[in-house]
Amino acid sequence: MKIGTYYYPEQWPREQWTRDFDNIANAGLKIIHLGEFAWGTIEPKQSEYQLDWLETCFSLATERDLDVILCTPTAVIPAWMAQKHPDIFITGQRFGGRRHANHLHPVYVEESCKVATQLASRFGRHPSLIGWQIDNELSSTQFDQSEFTHQAFRQWLLERYKTIDALNQAWGCAFWNTFYTSWDQIKFPAGRDPNYRNQHESLDASRFWSSSFAAFTLAQAKILKSNSHSSAFVSTNFMPFHMDCDPADFRDSLSLWAWDAYPITGWGREHKDESYRMADPAPVAVMHDQMRCQNGRWALVEVQPGQVNWSGYPVLPYPGAIRLLLWQAIAHGCELITVYRWRQPNFGIETFHDGLVQWDGQTLSEGGKQFAQVAREAKSITQTSPSDYRPLKRDNSVPTVGLLHDHDQLWCYASMRQAARWDQGRLVAQYHAAIERISLHVDVLTSESSIDRYPVVVAPGLQMMTDQLVEKLQRYVKQGGHLILTGRSGIFDQFGQAPMNQRYAARLSTLIGADVSGYDALPESTFGAVDFQGATYKWGIWADLLEPTSAKVLGTYCDQFYAGKAAVVQNRLGAGVCTFVGPIDEGPLTNAVVESVISDLGLQVVVTPERTRLHRMNGVQIFLNFSVYTHATPAQPGATFIIGSESTGPGDVSIWKA
Ligand code: GAL
Repeated sequence: MKIGTYYYPEQWPREQWTRDFDNIANAGLKIIHLGEFAWGTIEPKQSEYQLDWLETCFSLATERDLDVILCTPTAVIPAWMAQKHPDIFITGQRFGGRRHANHLHPVYVEESCKVATQLASRFGRHPSLIGWQIDNELSSTQFDQSEFTHQAFRQWLLERYKTIDALNQAWGCAFWNTFYTSWDQIKFPAGRDPNYRNQHESLDASRFWSSSFAAFTLAQAKILKSNSHSSAFVSTNFMPFHMDCDPADFRDSLSLWAWDAYPITGWGREHKDESYRMADPAPVAVMHDQMRCQNGRWALVEVQPGQVNWSGYPVLPYPGAIRLLLWQAIAHGCELITVYRWRQPNFGIETFHDGLVQWDGQTLSEGGKQFAQVAREAKSITQTSPSDYRPLKRDNSVPTVGLLHDHDQLWCYASMRQAARWDQGRLVAQYHAAIERISLHVDVLTSESSIDRYPVVVAPGLQMMTDQLVEKLQRYVKQGGHLILTGRSGIFDQFGQAPMNQRYAARLSTLIGADVSGYDALPESTFGAVDFQGATYKWGIWADLLEPTSAKVLGTYCDQFYAGKAAVVQNRLGAGVCTFVGPIDEGPLTNAVVESVISDLGLQVVVTPERTRLHRMNGVQIFLNFSVYTHATPAQPGATFIIGSESTGPGDVSIWKA
């Protein structure tokens, strides 16, 4: 596990490079990212590649024992390309920003492959190169409307549906008689929101858009892999649950999975204390586990160094908040952490974005000091020899819960929200947090993953289910598994359609031992009450109303005109159990159900206070305090502390030998 930084030499006077590289190494950092966004410097005129400056930087890195991650610069095209091909942009965009070229435009694809080839053939076998980052945060400001994109969409649909009748069926075109009679009538929609058009079309548009980014990435990945030494990884940096890219679509291209975390935004309302100055661990942790579960190798490549320029509420982070984020990533087994960025820029739209050093280019910022601190601290835990830095591994005697999350579901909810309060990403993070709260490990799986080895599987808000998935879940439970499902599950098939000739969620009746008679969803800031095992909880987002057949009732609605109806039920099926949580709340009920179901199984849970986490790893245990209160450290008596002590202060970390 090594720590490093992005550095943009082309933004700084050449005579400062040596000093900057020295300072990076002296801060204890071990990795440097180069080349991101640098296409204009690499190829200032078409086919005139300038790579000597990068060679100089590689040498500066090698001399200081810094590993290099080289980025393909394709997130920003050079001006000559824009001028020569004015139609290269995503509809409505123009030169001067980033992420504005259409990745379905053949010239952009070809030029991207050419620059990747130049970089790979020059640096792919450099001893300091440890891996590649393709592009930056693949995404677009809007859906492109060029003929290239319409054409590619049609081709994708043709491969998927084969006949126009099958497409009309999948898109429910009988509704309003919007049948297509030939493929060339189809256009890629202008946005993900169907605007009261066709949500099945929007769902497929999202699937296509993600697959097109994956194809763009694969073209570069093939070049990089075939021109690099075999140990160089290929990666790209994802944004959390971002609609444009489903990480699972990138499995053919990537060998290391990475994402960018900026969780201290000042967003949200009515903060009861200063905890908004620290990350909420829940949405961060679910991403860590999603990345890790792709192939086991993952990195946090961008992490907030301090204040950001884009949130509108640039709160000063709590003392220690950045260090906490680094330790959280280490506790989830990351292979490396790098930060955006070393120097705070003196110009450009991110002038207010902190770096590890300030505007003078030399003085460590508060975040910079915390990075240097973790680089020192982590050595004793993850460095096994002078050259060997290992990711931390989990203590496998601690149970792991499987959490099912499909990007498809995010798209389905985005194209037909139904309840304005529904936030699928948040719901997934909430269930992830409920499992981490009791100190178990979580694997973030997709509904295609094999689930048999997990003692418990949690599947929040899986609205679309194929018949095969319903069967798989039933089989899992019958064979002794414990499944937790929530309201709004299984009501649609993979096209987002309600199965014909069936009642609401009827496919789940056998599994959950109940019929779903309907649902409720409340206005903003309005709550209903539910009783679960003698305690009362608030819900407001959604509530499935249940008519138990074979299930026992664990919770009931306490108010509204349907007071007394079943809300949470548990059904024995074969050797296992399925628990169905009808109401969608904002956390407390979720925590209570997860804790109760898992404790009943006799699994070894340790309940931790709000906004804290205990990570039970091989050789060490790590306690992270994201709250503004001091907490007793959940270490065994007489534990040998490596960092911290029996009491863990606000924003602090304690680590002891397991
Ligand atoms: C990221 C992006 C970086 C930088 C950063 C600012 O999303 O990848 O290049 O712009 O945001 O917070």
